[in-house]
Amino acid sequence: MYVCVCAAVTDRQIREVASQCAGGDFRTLCRNLGIAQQCGKCAAAARLLVGGDREAAGTPAPALGLG
Ligand code: FES
Repeated sequence: MYVCVCAAVTDRQIREVASQCAGGDFRTLCRNLGIAQQCGKCAAAARLLVGGDREAAGTPAPALGLG
């Protein structure tokens, strides 16, 4: 499903990039994907999506600056 309508980025794309950017911060992730750069309405959903994946994978949330 689309998380960022402005940039046409899906939850799958966000998960994929987040998994490739272990140790990166959320702002870098957003810049790389082009999300949360316009209206910003997707930022909270994207943050939850990435944070949820990190917790499920057993990686502490602070690794992405989410803590
Ligand atoms: S929905 Fe992502 S910037 Fe607008």
